[in-house]
Amino acid sequence: MARGSELAPLILLLLLAVVTRFCVAQTDCKCPTNKMTVCSSESPGGACQCRAIGSQVLVNCSTLTSKCLLLKARMSAQKSGRTLVKPSEHAIVDNDGLYDPDCDDKGHFKARQCNQTSVCWCVNSVGVRRTDKGDLSLRCDELVRTHHILIELSHRPTNRAFNHSDLDSELRRLFKERYQLRPNFLSAVHYEEPTIQIELRQNASQKSLGDVDIADAAYYFERDIKGESLFTGLRGLDVQVRGEPLHVERTLIYYLDEKPPQFSMKRLTAGLIAVIVVVVVALVAGVVVLVITNRRKSGKYRKVELKELGEMRSEPSL
Ligand SMILES: *[C@@H]1O[C@H](CO)[C@@H](O)[C@H](O)[C@H]1NC(C)=O
Ligand SMILES: *[C@@H]1O[C@H](CO)[C@@H](O)[C@H](O)[C@H]1NC(C)=O
Ligand SMILES: *[C@@H]1O[C@H](CO)[C@@H](O)[C@H](O)[C@H]1NC(C)=O
Ligand SMILES: *[C@@H]1O[C@H](CO)[C@@H](O)[C@H](O)[C@H]1NC(C)=O
Repeated sequence: MARGSELAPLILLLLLAVVTRFCVAQTDCKCPTNKMTVCSSESPGGACQCRAIGSQVLVNCSTLTSKCLLLKARMSAQKSGRTLVKPSEHAIVDNDGLYDPDCDDKGHFKARQCNQTSVCWCVNSVGVRRTDKGDLSLRCDELVRTHHILIELSHRPTNRAFNHSDLDSELRRLFKERYQLRPNFLSAVHYEEPTIQIELRQNASQKSLGDVDIADAAYYFERDIKGESLFTGLRGLDVQVRGEPLHVERTLIYYLDEKPPQFSMKRLTAGLIAVIVVVVVALVAGVVVLVITNRRKSGKYRKVELKELGEMRSEPSL
């Protein structure tokens, strides 16, 4: 007798648990690695499927989405913001160079991109223009790979410089855990207060199926730094060691291609064949907070092959 009355609440609890679980499963259909998706579990079998906004391409939510699809989604989202006013024609800085890209069936940039008019140009694997603009007759034979990305951050003055090895391991952890980049593709972290450089290198032969592309990892990082994280539910960048917060003030991203860019009026020297474009990521405020300890700088700050880049700084930010 007593036994039965003890069991009743238990069964109720169990039932409740099953019901809530079911509900959670229903509302949990989201894409953790890509906010710019529409998800639904109405497919046969009830699996949660997410499609990228703008392209409707099915997205794998356990890895990063390709930059091309993300840009497309971004452009599509912007188009719908028609009710907002533009403060001034000249006020758009961040949008300069943004375009609605053509992606191939794997989500990669097509080598040739055109805007809605008949203006076309060739891009590299990060979607950045690497030739002069032409008309519809312009040919781009192949998608040239960006095999080296250098991200240069500068941080706000702090009481003490950060410890290079702590900084290094935190950034490596970040790229591995947050962006799922295989550690060997982060080739170096350089630091000389207040400048931090992160070098990503990955050529086609090194990249195997399922590896995150450095183009995509860098793009997720860029958006994180701008405070526009693409992850669902994850907080903004929050790299902590111990102690002092670090605010990023300025970011430059250098893209280096396997083949020299083809700008007609360039004055790039032979040693710079691979160098292409600098993207200035304008920050409204120091969004990123890295927290790192200890003093002392690393003495080795290598300004690799970047001397001539000044003239190209007006290139677009994607
Ligand atoms: C296309 O590119 C041309 C040349 O850069 C530019 O003048 C035009 O405004 C662009 N059109 C669109 C729709 O982006
Ligand atoms: C940085 O910190 C580590 C311990 O986290 C220490 O072993 C190392 O000596 C420090 N490096 C410098 C340059 O202070
Ligand atoms: C790819 O990178 C590795 C290591 O940096 C290098 O040894 C190799 O020559 C590169 N391959 C190509 C095709 O560039
Ligand atoms: C999604 O990506 C993960 C990680 O790269 C991979 O293991 C998995 O096979 C992919 N799933 C599909 C359906 O492609």
